Amino acid sequence: MDARCARAQLDAPLIHPNWIWFRAQATLAIEQDRSLGPMSALEPFGTGLSVAVFGASGGIGRALTDILQSDISVERVYALSRTEPEGLGEKSTGIAFDMLDEASIAEAATVIAKAGPLHLAIIATGFLHDDTVGPEKRSQDLNSKNMEHLFRINTIGPALIAKHVFPLLAKDRRSVFAALSARVGSISDNKLGGWHCYRASKAALNMVIRTLSIEMAYRNQHSICVALHPGTVDTQLSEPFRGNLPAEKVFTPVDAATQLLEVMAGLSPKDTGGFFAWDGQKIPY
Ligand SMILES: NC(=O)c1ccc[n+]([C@@H]2O[C@H](COP(=O)([O-])OP(=O)(O)OC[C@H]3O[C@@H](n4cnc5c(N)ncnc54)[C@H](OP(=O)(O)O)[C@@H]3O)[C@@H](O)[C@H]2O)c1
Repeated sequence: MDARCARAQLDAPLIHPNWIWFRAQATLAIEQDRSLGPMSALEPFGTGLSVAVFGASGGIGRALTDILQSDISVERVYALSRTEPEGLGEKSTGIAFDMLDEASIAEAATVIAKAGPLHLAIIATGFLHDDTVGPEKRSQDLNSKNMEHLFRINTIGPALIAKHVFPLLAKDRRSVFAALSARVGSISDNKLGGWHCYRASKAALNMVIRTLSIEMAYRNQHSICVALHPGTVDTQLSEPFRGNLPAEKVFTPVDAATQLLEVMAGLSPKDTGGFFAWDGQKIPY
């Protein structure tokens, strides 16, 4: 696969010409409103929120954690990761867990349950490559061990988190369960091929989310359960595949996290089960 192809796989964001102008206006409006007092990115959720970020040590997960810690509507942040993130604020509790170990997920849920209902759970974990494993260019590169690992992190882990976290979500008000997926997991969008396992693991994650959303709606009619695509973000996960993509097409983790929170705040229960991009647009499965 050439560099052009690899970049396209990462879903270089399609920036509408008016987008930059809109963002500038929005930033200006936010700055003006700040003079009236502190604001919350999560206003539709109400106040006194408990939120959990799984994968708080990752590029996007850490940025989400930091933004949520400083949001006035948020009372408590659970920052979950394999190793406890450093420098968490007073509102935050670091909890260790491993996607590959269900008992650790169950134990983390027990800690969260002690402080009452959860209003927002975000799964920001994910795996694409490490020193030994990388995305396949062709079917000859497929390897069952690597495939199993990707599915365990990208698909099975989020499903097990739902198993243990669903009972903790608020039942009488807005509650959101969101997993970071990737546009390459869209079956109808797949025109390039390659990246077999990552694509398949995210497509399967999307189905897991869709199925969970139906169950979640039975428990709480105000619930929202979605898959989200963050765009191409400057993290270690995307680093080897960004090629010479122009800087303005790669989001910083803080921009990506801000955009994802805006999307989550803008969703309503009728959107549950959907797959949404960083700009709020619905992605077809
Ligand atoms: N970056 C992009 O351009 C991009 C584009 C599309 C979609 N996404 C999706 O966005 C999500 C976040 O990606 P990112 O860019 O922030 O990646 P990242 O910086 O590599 O973060 C990945 C996170 O997953 C965690 N993780 C991996 N294996 C784990 C395990 N066994 N148990 C617990 N946690 C584990 C990592 O924990 P450790 O720190 O312990 O390794 C880390 O917190 C992923 O689902 C990714 O597929 C990213």
